[in-house]
Amino acid sequence: MKIFITGASGHIGGALTADLLAAGHQVLGLARSDAAAARLAALGAEVVRGDLDATDVLTATAKAADGVVHLAYKHELALSGAPDGFARAADFDLQVVEALGEALAGSGKPLVGTGGTLLLAGLGAHLGAPAAGAPRRPGTEEDTLPGGPRADSENALVALADRGVRTSSVRLSPTVHSDLDHHGFIPSLIAMARRNGFSAYVGDGSNRWPAVHTRDAARLYRLAVERAPAGSRLHGVADEGVPFRAIAEAIGRGAGVPARGASPRRTPRPPSGSSRGSSRSTTPRRAPAPRPSSTGTRPTRASSTTSPRATTSRPEDRAQRARQRSIMRRSRTSSSGSGLDFSCTSAA
Ligand SMILES: NC(=O)c1ccc[n+]([C@@H]2O[C@H](COP(=O)([O-])OP(=O)(O)OC[C@H]3O[C@@H](n4cnc5c(N)ncnc54)[C@H](OP(=O)(O)O)[C@@H]3O)[C@@H](O)[C@H]2O)c1
Repeated sequence: MKIFITGASGHIGGALTADLLAAGHQVLGLARSDAAAARLAALGAEVVRGDLDATDVLTATAKAADGVVHLAYKHELALSGAPDGFARAADFDLQVVEALGEALAGSGKPLVGTGGTLLLAGLGAHLGAPAAGAPRRPGTEEDTLPGGPRADSENALVALADRGVRTSSVRLSPTVHSDLDHHGFIPSLIAMARRNGFSAYVGDGSNRWPAVHTRDAARLYRLAVERAPAGSRLHGVADEGVPFRAIAEAIGRGAGVPARGASPRRTPRPPSGSSRGSSRSTTPRRAPAPRPSSTGTRPTRASSTTSPRATTSRPEDRAQRARQRSIMRRSRTSSSGSGLDFSCTSAA
């Protein structure tokens, strides 16, 4: 297959490009700079020059390809420090998904998008806990997101299954780890530890982050583009729940600084414009055993019959998105044991 990748020059996109080429596919990689173009050419991909803003380039290339993987994201805008930067980056991502979907409508071709398991933290009370103190259940691929930053993109993507696009959304673990990652969550946390002189965890650090190796994540994208059923939600998770304290301690050992619990107020904030990390707190939960794969591969698939439809323009939807943003703001500053839970079904 000839696969068009946005973000092919990035951490995960580069690994995916190599994986697809090794599996006998062709890769068309979007490159917005000479450096990105050189990286893609060195990998053996065909370079498509353009920025995410170049909708005409995106749609023409999508139409010429046999499938599309959308990994690029305007992190620079999201983390620019502008008050609406985060929301604008998410809205822009939604526009890209819609444009790619429009280009592929009726074709039956695969379109694989990108989300994150962190978004499930925003579901909070929707993940169970009928009584105060009761354990919450882990989020799974069956859980849909009501809306909000990045969730709107996922919902729009899944809804495109009804328009003849074989869509799937890969929800990545916050920790996508390997020596290929230079500015994801973990490198950001390492930089913060070095700058602050200690490696922080929130509260007792018992909140959990799932993790996946970059090359396993890349393989999941390849399997998704090759055979995920339309309307799939796939969790890019290998280690389903690593206590954040263990992550902080490992970072502390590597950086030569102590690991230390911090109250949410004292938790160091990521530097503006240079990090996508945050110290979101969750309730530790062990996820249920992996379910059988519907793709014959490791990921599990959510039922497309439960998939919400794209909701972006109606007033009630805008209100819902505002509410979701508010939930996400709270989740970024809440303390450990706040009831938020994003531990996930092991799927990789
Ligand atoms: N890394 C993680 O731990 C993690 C966790 C959860 C979710 N994710 C998501 O996974 C996706 C890929 O992450 P990553 O770690 O591979 O990110 P990355 O290394 O920062 O790569 C981002 C890619 O997007 C491209 N890009 C950014 N803005 C662009 C624009 N305006 N026009 C064209 N291309 C643009 C970059 O191009 P340049 O090479 O020119 O910069 C690069 O190829 C993102 O959506 C990210 O949010 C990542």
